[in-house]
Amino acid sequence: MCNKVYTSAPLPFQGQKRRFISDFKEVLTQFDDIDTVVDLFGGSGLLSHIAKRTRPELRVIYNDYDYYCDRLGMVDITNEILSRIRPLMKSLAPDKRIPEDIRHKVVNILNSYPPPLDYITLSSSLLFSGKWAKTHDELISQSMYSKVKQTDYEVGGYLDGLEIVHMDYRDLFKLHKDNKRTLFLLDPPYLSTDCGSYENYWKLSDYLEVLKLLVGTRYIYFTSNKSQLIELCEWIKENASIGNPFEGVEIRKQQNKLNYQSTFTDIMLVKE
Ligand SMILES: C[S@@+](CC[C@H](N)C(=O)[O-])C[C@H]1O[C@@H](n2cnc3c(N)ncnc32)[C@H](O)[C@@H]1O
Repeated sequence: MCNKVYTSAPLPFQGQKRRFISDFKEVLTQFDDIDTVVDLFGGSGLLSHIAKRTRPELRVIYNDYDYYCDRLGMVDITNEILSRIRPLMKSLAPDKRIPEDIRHKVVNILNSYPPPLDYITLSSSLLFSGKWAKTHDELISQSMYSKVKQTDYEVGGYLDGLEIVHMDYRDLFKLHKDNKRTLFLLDPPYLSTDCGSYENYWKLSDYLEVLKLLVGTRYIYFTSNKSQLIELCEWIKENASIGNPFEGVEIRKQQNKLNYQSTFTDIMLVKE
C-alpha cells in the first residue's frame, strides 16, 4: 500500500472536508473498539483516505456515489489535455478571461478527445470560479478563463486500501448497522443548495431522514451553520409535545418567478 498522505482530494471536489483533516485524525484515535469505518457520503473519498492512513488496521468502506474513481482513472487524459492547453495561456494573466481566438483553439483541443472527459477538473481549469460543466457541450459553450494549474494532477495510491462501493447511503447503512464495531461517517450534501458539481438538491426532509441513522450508532457527522439542524433538534427536544401543528390544514399555493431561471412557491395554511 502507498504511504503518501493526501491533505486534499487530488482532483477538484466541491464540499471536500480538507479543513477538518487534523480534527478528524484526532477524533479517529478516540475510537478504540471499532473494526470498520463506513463513509456513507464519500464524495471525493478524502475522509476514507485519511481514515485508512490514520488507522490502517481498520476496514474502510468508501461510498463513491459520484463515481469519483472514474475521474481518477481519467487523470492521464486530463493531464494531457491540460498540458496542450497550458502553452496557449502563457501570455495571459492568471484568472483572466480568454480572448475568443485562444478560446477557439482550446475548444479544438477539447473536441479532439472523445467524451466522457473529467468535466469537473476541466471546469476548474477553464471556467469562472464556482461554474461547473457536466457535459462536453456545456464546457465548450462557456466563457473561459486562464486557470490551468502549472503542474500535472497526481493521484497515485489515493484509493489504496479502501473498499469502494457505489450505492444509496440507506442501502449501505443497512449492510453494516448490525456490526456494533462500525464507525459511520456522515457528510450529507448541503441543505437546499445548488451543489453545482454533483447532482444534488437536498431538502429538509432528506436531511432529517439521515438523522434516523444516528440513533444507537457510533458516528462522526458533518453539517454547517447554514442548515440550522442542531438548533432544530434542540428545539424539537424542548417542544416534543406539540406534534405537527399543521395537521389537517388546508393548503393553498402561489407560484412566484424571481427571474427566468428560478421560481419559488408561497404557501398559505388555514386551520378552521
Ligand atoms: C458533502 S459531500 C461529501 C464530501 C466528502 N466528505 C469529501 O470530503 O469529499 C456529499 C456527498 O453525498 C453524495 N450523495 C448524495 N446523495 C446521496 C445518497 N443518496 N447516497 C449516498 N451519497 C449521496 C453527494 O453526491 C456528495 O458526493
